[in-house]
Amino acid sequence: MLHGYLVGEILSTTTFIQPVLATIEKVEARMREQADDRHPDLKVAFKNLLAAGGKRIRPTLVLLTGNMLGADPERLTTLAAAIEMLHTATLVHDDLIDGSLMRRGNETLNAKWTPAATVLTGDFVFARAAKLAAETGSLTVMEEFAETLAILVNGELTQMFDSRGLASRENYYERIYAKTGSLFELSTHGAAIISPVDEKMIERARNFGKNLGTAFQIVDDILDFTGEQATVGKPVGSDLLHGLITLPALYYIENNADDENVKALLAGNYHNTAKMTALIESIRQSDAIELSLNEAKLFANKALQALNGQPKSEERLALEELVKYVTDREV
Ligand code: IPE
Ligand code: IPE
Ligand code: MG
Ligand code: MG
Repeated sequence: MLHGYLVGEILSTTTFIQPVLATIEKVEARMREQADDRHPDLKVAFKNLLAAGGKRIRPTLVLLTGNMLGADPERLTTLAAAIEMLHTATLVHDDLIDGSLMRRGNETLNAKWTPAATVLTGDFVFARAAKLAAETGSLTVMEEFAETLAILVNGELTQMFDSRGLASRENYYERIYAKTGSLFELSTHGAAIISPVDEKMIERARNFGKNLGTAFQIVDDILDFTGEQATVGKPVGSDLLHGLITLPALYYIENNADDENVKALLAGNYHNTAKMTALIESIRQSDAIELSLNEAKLFANKALQALNGQPKSEERLALEELVKYVTDREV
């Protein structure tokens, strides 16, 4: 059985995960092995992080893409574990940075531990992710892995120093590529790199992941307005309160320049909780949500187009389903 509330209860019933469900269990086992003989508290924290689950969407992407392109199953499992481990590490640090107390329906590490212990645990998870990436045996994969980590970290720092209260689409798209598009890109690009296919196919796979990741993050940003904490498994309504202007807010700002709360936000007063809470409610009830979803669907369509050139197979059909899931999801 898979562990964790999300995989167990939601994704395992989706059709697209079926071709790789058994392999996802191997990926989970591969990740669990990485705790080995460490400090007992670190070991417990590590096991709890993995047991909390998550949708496992990135390893699913790795496996479906690699199987479609004929990659070696062992290397593919290792790559899937490396990428989910990298994702897990970024979440440990992200929740500390954001002060989030819930993730995947569980208390975060930073809710229980000191910042120092949380940072170190995140570092340990990064280290194990890098080891797994090396075990794929591909120098190119290792280089791409390191580059993606650099993009992620640079993105978080840029968001921290330069992006608060900034209403710019260009900045928004740079940010979501850094934090999500890049890791989805690594998932499909990495799987193609270790497959017996030519450069053109590798580029298509990379494009597929990048566009899908962009759609995925737009939907994450919509769910921050429309989702329920109990369903999403993490705090919602928090982006604006942190001064982070995402696509729904951008649309609302464009169409409601006279709104007092928009003026407050653009003047940098996002610390005003009453105003931001009112603004969140206005955005939630406006057409900004639908406009944003339509934009997510444009990226999902670009992802589908990139799939067009890939071999017709059970995996390709599953990937098409996965694309649909990304814009339909409520979790
Ligand atoms: C959360 O990613 C962080 C984002 C990039 C939005 P997921 O929504 O894939 O989180 P889990 O792994 O399912 O918990
Ligand atoms: C986190 O971004 C993505 C990372 C690169 C860690 P967010 O802060 O938007 O993710 P959530 O909403 O907490 O999952
Ligand atoms: Mg966060
Ligand atoms: Mg978010």
